[in-house]
Amino acid sequence: MPATVIVGLQWGDEGKGKTTDVLAEQVAMVVRYQGGDNAGHTVVLGDEVFKLHLVPSGVLYPHISPVIGNGVVVNPATLLAELAMLAERGIPIERVRVSRSAHVIMPYHIALDGAMEARLAGYAVGTTHRGIGPAYADRAWRIGIRMEDLLDPSALRTKLGRILPEKNAVLQRTHGLEGSDLEELVVMAADWGRRLAPHIADTTALVQGALVRGDHLLFEGAQGTLLDLDHGSYPYVTSSNPVAGGACTGGGIGPLQVDEVIGVMKAYSTRVGSGPFPTELTDGVGEAIATRGHEYGVTTGRRRRVGWFDAVPLRYAVAVNSVSAIMLNKLDILSGLEEIPVCVAYEIDGQRLDWWPSDAGVLSRAEPVYERLTGWAEPIHDARSMADLPPAARRYVDSLEALAAVPISLVSVGPERTQTIERSARPQRGGQAGARPRPAAGGGAA
Ligand code: IMP
Repeated sequence: MPATVIVGLQWGDEGKGKTTDVLAEQVAMVVRYQGGDNAGHTVVLGDEVFKLHLVPSGVLYPHISPVIGNGVVVNPATLLAELAMLAERGIPIERVRVSRSAHVIMPYHIALDGAMEARLAGYAVGTTHRGIGPAYADRAWRIGIRMEDLLDPSALRTKLGRILPEKNAVLQRTHGLEGSDLEELVVMAADWGRRLAPHIADTTALVQGALVRGDHLLFEGAQGTLLDLDHGSYPYVTSSNPVAGGACTGGGIGPLQVDEVIGVMKAYSTRVGSGPFPTELTDGVGEAIATRGHEYGVTTGRRRRVGWFDAVPLRYAVAVNSVSAIMLNKLDILSGLEEIPVCVAYEIDGQRLDWWPSDAGVLSRAEPVYERLTGWAEPIHDARSMADLPPAARRYVDSLEALAAVPISLVSVGPERTQTIERSARPQRGGQAGARPRPAAGGGAA
């Protein structure tokens, strides 16, 4: 089983770090394939808590090679700070590799991200202000700086000399902000390059070499399907492709080299930033779930918006990612609720819809159609098998599985690696993973 993709099925923050943690023993390489330091995960290792934004969490395991793939946008200052933090805490960092082709987030990208958001005012995306969108935009515009450029200061000066006047003009004239000085920028970027040189590599060659050796590789998505630039609720999305296909373009593998896709979802929904969220809870119940579930962003500290589980985007996410198995996280957070509504369809403009509408305007008019499931009172942190769960909790998992139409193989009942129930074997490619949900008749945005 050489290549597993881990993908978020909701709006990010599904607990993909825990999935990596659970699978870590079996894998030789963990590859990040998109996003940048807008992501964030907290890993608990014994008594120690690590907060990582860029370096894959595999770095915490001595047998894993952590790789930042070509599809990631890298803020070198963040990467250097994370590497220094890890080294200081005794984690060997020599194995960390970052793609030569990964694009660099420059200071002007960060300034432009904030300036654009301020300009959009009421229509702002609610970005993390990390410069993600502007860096990906420059990649598409073919004026981006790549990690390999940091290794050649004179070529870097020439490139920046062409790009910077344009960036400074926009910052100064459109947004009334200060621009950057070319020489200062070249000195800073060359210093990044000097310090990161031992880590910069052709990561596609590393990935392909590992696959030839028969190593098990994990491709770790950041954010989630509903924040995908193409498949999410545009424009309230991030600027990359968190979907499983992103592992191919951003990680250096072909589609037929992927053996399984593990979709990760929480037992309820959360979302950070703006955009429609049909099952959002704006009452005390949402507040209580947010508190119990520690739903605060690792990157920005923002309180995440909370809502009931929504099976409409789930069907869609299972399909567009070709999910073969699901890990369900944070089931324990729902303990103590008398009744748990699960959204099974939307009503939009008087029509029932059970397929995710691509138009954010249509989605914003969606009224959730709920099926009400019985809750359970007792804490479930100590459950280690399905039989240890209260019957209502088992029914909740069974219902979500029926809605997803693929097996929920892993169920998490707490943050520790041991607080995981292995519910069923994970189907492999060529096995039973063929069952794919289809858009319901009458599907498609109204
Ligand atoms: P950006 O990725 O900073 O451009 O932000 C675009 C949207 O994605 C905003 O709604 C962010 O809140 C959201 N976002 C970005 N990264 C994450 C994440 O790691 N978890 C959840 N939401 C995220």
